[in-house]
Amino acid sequence: MHRAIQTAIWSRQAQWLLSQSRRRLGSMFTLEIAYEGKWVVVADPDLIKQVFTGDPKVFHAGEGNDVLRPLLGEHSLLTLDEAAHMSQRKLLLPSFHGRRMAGYEATMREIAAREIESWPTGVPYRLRPRMQVMTLEIIIETVFGVHGGARLDELRAALRDFLDMLTNPRMIVPILGLGPDRLRSYPPFRRRVDRVARLILGEIAERRAAADLEERDDILSLLVAARHEDGSPMSDAEIHDELLTLLVAGHETTATALAWAVERLVRHPDKLARLRDEVRAGEDAYLTATIQETLRLRPVIVIVIRRLTEAIELGGYELPAGVNVVPSIHLVHRDPTIYPEPDRFRPERFLEAPPGTYTWIPFGGGVRRCLGAAFAQQEMAIVLRELAARWTIRPADPAAERPFRRAITETPRHNAEVILS
Ligand code: HEM
Repeated sequence: MHRAIQTAIWSRQAQWLLSQSRRRLGSMFTLEIAYEGKWVVVADPDLIKQVFTGDPKVFHAGEGNDVLRPLLGEHSLLTLDEAAHMSQRKLLLPSFHGRRMAGYEATMREIAAREIESWPTGVPYRLRPRMQVMTLEIIIETVFGVHGGARLDELRAALRDFLDMLTNPRMIVPILGLGPDRLRSYPPFRRRVDRVARLILGEIAERRAAADLEERDDILSLLVAARHEDGSPMSDAEIHDELLTLLVAGHETTATALAWAVERLVRHPDKLARLRDEVRAGEDAYLTATIQETLRLRPVIVIVIRRLTEAIELGGYELPAGVNVVPSIHLVHRDPTIYPEPDRFRPERFLEAPPGTYTWIPFGGGVRRCLGAAFAQQEMAIVLRELAARWTIRPADPAAERPFRRAITETPRHNAEVILS
């Protein structure tokens, strides 16, 4: 197919394009999308392991995320490679360690309970936008450390407006079409990016001057206190870019995963009932398995990208420098040799066998594995627990919702519409 046709299909039906290509071409094939170089899609876990554990100097993920650079900046963890990437990743890692994660739990629970309590009963209600409200609120409190007041309202409004632009399905055309450099000067884009930057820089300045920095446990405060290996603090630009990265990487993804969890559960009342019973009994095993199965069957992101800086051999093929090697999350998760009846929603499969490092990859892998994987799963568990324990939920329409592409993530077409009682 011509590159333009592949791009058009990719932007609407990425999963279909991946599955059809595997059916016709096998577990390794080439796609050509938009202005990107060649993608060599890989669906075999052994080869994906080679890619994830390969030399970060050869497998560049940051370069593969070029499209995000005008949004997130030069210092974003997502767009850096090699030593620069490792150095930022080390500064961010402590924010996601166990003790810190436990500290975010109460905030997550409070926000989830307040939000879920406010939902209407007896009428069709779309949960995906509400999940986004919740994940945004959780990030503003745990990452930015802003609680209440006019500043919170202003920051929330600016972030909302910025994120709405990104997730607007119509934005995929300028994002893919203009390319990173021209996108930067596209006025609707520029205006929102500048407003968010002004507010974030204001928060950073305030935090640098705060007397209680040591006692604060939000991520912004941790970054203000963090030091590079040579003892120097992070610059305003670095902190700005990482905060925005956490926001963009963590907000819509988690909200979408939650929307899918509900979308699947309400169409499997026996599984929803089991979840509710176990959650009420204080058991978490089925809850964890439900989250794992949701992320397997409806991975929010269907591929990850590594751009080669030198030629390699992979799966018996010579791949030249410049090619993008693309492990396909979607294809691995639907491989019937790994997951019998791969299209069925069956959390029980993860009670029978735990997920494998290279066969369950909703968060990617290797030195680029999602920094927020534990954060996201904790948040999902808290929200689903609150939801299942409190409400009886049924679908507004019995037909399953199909995946729908919203700029970067794949969301339920009708936004997980349910009726609560
Ligand atoms: C269900 C929710 C989420 C999913 C499915 C998800 C998925 C992913 C994936 C597939 C990657 C790329 C991994 C790779 O290239 O191998 C990634 C990277 C990343 N994610 Fe997540 N993510 C989620 C939530 C979050 C949250 C909540 C945060 C932060 C609060 C976050 C922060 C990041 C960051 C910073 C990276 C870049 C890591 C690096 O390049 O070193 N994500 N995520």
